[in-house]
Parts: sequence; structure tokens; C-alpha cells
Amino acid sequence: MLSSVTLKHVGRINIVTKVATATQTRTIHDLTLRKKTGEPMLKYGLGGRSSTNGHIATVFGCTGFLGRYVVNKLAKQGTQVVVAYRDADEARHLKVTGDLGQIIPLEFDLRNKEQINECVRHSDIVYNLVGRDYETKNFTFNDVHVDGSRVIAESCAENGVARFVQMSALNASEDSTSKFLRSKALGEKAVREVIPDATIVRPGTMWGHEDRFLNRIGEDGGWQYYVNEGNTKIRPVSAIDVAHALEIMLTAESTTGKTYELYGPKEYSIKEIFELAREITMKPLPIRAAPNAVFKLAATFFDKLPYNQMVSPDLIERMSMNDKITPGALTFEDLYINPTDLETVAIQFLRRFRSNAVFDLPYEKGDGQVQKGVYHLID
Ligand SMILES: NC(=O)c1ccc[n+]([C@@H]2O[C@H](COP(=O)([O-])OP(=O)(O)OC[C@H]3O[C@@H](n4cnc5c(N)ncnc54)[C@H](OP(=O)(O)O)[C@@H]3O)[C@@H](O)[C@H]2O)c1
Repeated sequence: MLSSVTLKHVGRINIVTKVATATQTRTIHDLTLRKKTGEPMLKYGLGGRSSTNGHIATVFGCTGFLGRYVVNKLAKQGTQVVVAYRDADEARHLKVTGDLGQIIPLEFDLRNKEQINECVRHSDIVYNLVGRDYETKNFTFNDVHVDGSRVIAESCAENGVARFVQMSALNASEDSTSKFLRSKALGEKAVREVIPDATIVRPGTMWGHEDRFLNRIGEDGGWQYYVNEGNTKIRPVSAIDVAHALEIMLTAESTTGKTYELYGPKEYSIKEIFELAREITMKPLPIRAAPNAVFKLAATFFDKLPYNQMVSPDLIERMSMNDKITPGALTFEDLYINPTDLETVAIQFLRRFRSNAVFDLPYEKGDGQVQKGVYHLID
């Protein structure tokens, strides 16, 4: 705003000096308070990426598949995001998701409480997305999902972090036959013991560009396989929809202390997903089918290899389990999100597995209807 104009007469020349001062108008709407801590959040700017919404969020597990979408969505609305990483190279791509100074990479080790304290002490919300599909020689499922979650939750409690969001998994249960799912359930319990009003999120199998689901089906290696004769029933969910749900939890205090089960709108058998992939990629997918016991034996061997630990007997067990939805659990609907159906957009993820000769062809479903789903990957 132009605050003053001065006119000086210097000889016969008139010099007009314009003094411009930026004035900021703030209204009560720019101020929000964290219900639990009373901490004030002051918005600054017009909204969006180049403004600040006053929130500081820490995302553990940000270097994974879901992490990039969560960090992007938070930063896009002006949140300052602490991205907690183990390997700096793995977090480098996150730097550009926010404006200058908005993305703060901090190194941490799941067993180093001091480092975790550093990562959370300025934040008003912490997301724990840390998880691993397989055990390593350094970390068991319990180390990552139970002890790791507990130490992060304790650090948040000690540092007065107002909100805590814990990523679990659909089907997590203490009685599960899968060690992974048991540890996820125990992780939820450990977090709730420390922070009773933590928000728990249980997503189904997530799909997206960097997933470990469609990519495993579409890739050319000839290693495609399904267990349980492809009859396992799952409700795959878009990683972007899950990230959207986490974004809403940033400000929606109504999500405090709740458990959300986030799954796709349609149930598919694995066989149907393979069929969809075969139709879209326009090539036969070599599918290896064998009894679960044989797969588990093979997986035990691959699990022992010092590299590429992508298959384990526990993964085979999970692949033969149907998705079970807890009756009455909160879902996308309670967050006013319409989850995307995989079928309508699958071509955008599977087209790259096509041969050059048919790359540009539209996907015509059995009924001849051309699928035109337009999907904003990073909106
Ligand atoms: N993807 C799915 O279909 C699916 C389904 C249900 C639930 N979930 C859960 O949702 C969350 C996010 O999934 P995602 O697919 O994004 O997982 P992801 O790609 O495997 O990423 C996992 C993240 O956890 C970190 N991490 C793993 N072990 C760690 C350890 N010992 N110390 C520190 N950090 C560690 C990884 O860090 P590094 O990059 O340093 O390894 C990475 O940032 C996970 O908790 C997962 O279990 C995923």
C-alpha cells in the first residue's frame, strides 16, 4: 500500500519520492488454536504453497511410497514440514514439494531418542508412516512397528505435540496369522498407551506410481505370481486418497482419537486385478500359481538373501488373507472423500508396461467403453 508521497523542489526539477510500505491485515480467521495445547497458529499470506498456514508437521517414513504424497499435500497448503530421513539421498526429492525454507530435512535413527526429539519438538502434528513389509537383520517387525512407534509417540508426548497420526494397516489384529499384521496391531496399542487421543489410520493395499502392487503385476521380469489361486479378495486404495485423508487430519480436530479404515470403493479378487492388468497392458502375464506351502518355502529362501528382500513367508501369508473391514469403523465417507476406483484410472499406471506398438491405444473394456479417467497425480 502506498503510504506517503513527498514532493520536493530542487531547482526547477520536481522529485517525487514514493515510500511504499507493505501493510498486513490480519483477521481473527487467521488465528487458530490447537485444542489440546492452546498453541496459536497464525496464517500468513494469501494461502497456498507460497504462504504459511502456521502449522509445523513432522513426517516420519516420508521417504517411502506414501510419504511423498503426504509431504506434497501438506507443503502445498503452506505447512512447514520436517522430513525425517535415514538416507539424505532418499529425501532429496521432497525438498521441491514446498517453498523455500518450508521443507526441513532432519536425520533420525529409530533408536536415537535425541534425534527424534529434535525432529518433533517444534511440531504441532506428527505423522508416523514408518513401516516395513519384511524383516531385516537390523530390524524385526516389532522393532519397527511397535518399539519404533512407541518411541516416536513418547517423544511427541514429552515435547507437547498436539496431534499424532499413526499409520497401521487394514486387517491389523493381535490374533492375525501374519506377524506383520500382529505387529501393526501392537503398534496401535503402544501408541494409544502413550497418546490416547492419537489418530490411527488403517489403509488397504495402496496403488500408485511407486507402489509395490501394480508394479509387481505389470513388470516384465516374468516373476508374476499369485497365491491362493488368485481368490484373495482385497479393496485396493489410491495412495493419493490416503494422503488426502492425512492432509484433512492436519486441521480436522474431529479426527482426534479416532480410527479410520481407508479402502477402495470396490472389492476385487487378485485374479480380477491380474485380468485388468492383462487387458490394459495388452500382453499375456505369465502367472505362476502353486500351493501356499511351496511359495512360503521359496520365500524363506529369498528372504535370506542379503539383497532385494522383497518376499518373505509372512508376505505370502498376507497375500492369502481377504481384506476384513471392521463393522462401524470410520472410513473415507466420514472425511467427505470419494475414493477413486482403481479400474477407472488403472491405465495411467499400467500403460507403461505396454509394448511400443500399442502404447497409445485407448483402453477399451469388455463392453467397448473407452476409459477416460483423468487423474491428478500430484494436484
Ligand atoms: N503400501 C501399502 O500398500 C500399505 C498397506 C497398508 C499399510 N501400509 C503402511 O503405510 C505406511 C506407509 O506405507 P509405504 O508404502 O509408504 O511404506 P514404504 O514405501 O515401505 O516406506 C516406509 C518408510 O518407513 C521407513 N522405515 C522403514 N523401516 C525403518 C527403520 N527401521 N527406521 C527408520 N525408518 C524406517 C522407510 O525409510 P527408508 O526410506 O529410510 O527405508 C520409509 O520412509 C507404512 O507404515 C506401511 O506399513 C502400507
